[in-house]
Amino acid sequence: MRGRTGALLLLNASGCLDAFTAPDVASLFDAFVTKTVTPELRQGNPPVRIAETEHGMLNAIGLANPGRDTFLGQTLPRLASTIDVPIWVSVGGFSVRDYVETCEQLARDEVACVELNLSCPNVDEAPESAAEIVRACRGVTAKPLYAKVSPHTWDMGETVRAIEEAGADGVSMVNTLRGVALDAGLHTTLARGAGGYSGPALKPVALAAVLAARRATALPIVAMGGVQNGRDALELIACGATHIALGTVLFADVDAPSRVRAELHEEARRAGFERPEDALGVALESVAKPAN
Ligand SMILES: Cc1cc2nc3c(=O)[nH]c(=O)nc-3n(C[C@H](O)[C@H](O)[C@H](O)COP(=O)(O)O)c2cc1C
Repeated sequence: MRGRTGALLLLNASGCLDAFTAPDVASLFDAFVTKTVTPELRQGNPPVRIAETEHGMLNAIGLANPGRDTFLGQTLPRLASTIDVPIWVSVGGFSVRDYVETCEQLARDEVACVELNLSCPNVDEAPESAAEIVRACRGVTAKPLYAKVSPHTWDMGETVRAIEEAGADGVSMVNTLRGVALDAGLHTTLARGAGGYSGPALKPVALAAVLAARRATALPIVAMGGVQNGRDALELIACGATHIALGTVLFADVDAPSRVRAELHEEARRAGFERPEDALGVALESVAKPAN
């Protein structure tokens, strides 16, 4: 994998940036990823839906979104005229049919790529496996198709191989980890109880997921999870990421896209690489072979 060429993309992580309130920030990315869209309008979970913790953030937004018809009829055209970067549409659902029907309707010029959200911890998931959903969607869309997977997957290599076999063009990882925070009275802070844990604490989890995925596939990997700075991004690339996405950091620092991009180049040079891409997969070289 070392030295493989190809343009490294910097994206926002789905659900972490509103392009209508911050179009200038969205335009700093190489592509903008929408909040996950589901067939029906969703108000999301009842409040409290966000909690700060020592090392990260918990959210139980629950895929609040206007629903497919409003998204396609209003949000997407407005988005395309607001920002001038390619748009990736994040697709969610509760059955394989939900995913397929949305994918069928995304054959439009405004859509550069489809990212299947197969991993939201804040809603009940579709009973079908990730690979089944990918295979069904592959059958109805010619758009580049990425599958976003959960860090809860025990065997990331097997999951990614199945997704590749089903026809995905790339994988995105990781979504949030399920977590709980308690208030002073020992009640759950989030009304739903558990939420998705994101931010700095997720970085080692993301590194492990990307490393395992890269050992199993040569597909492009959009890596996210706790990226705060250029060094974090470089570490994900060293584990095998071809692209990087910024999530929770955007809530604290709207300059993160340009800052992380500049730091990434600086950190790569400091580590002895002319370009960040040249560090692709170098961490795999240090992984010891299993003992017999
Ligand atoms: C407030 C919030 C909303 C999110 N909404 C979505 C979503 O709609 N779809 C999705 O695939 N991921 C969603 N995520 C997960 C992020 O895209 C990302 O995978 C995760 O936060 C890990 O990256 P980070 O540690 O850099 O935030 C959300 C995360 C947060 C914090």
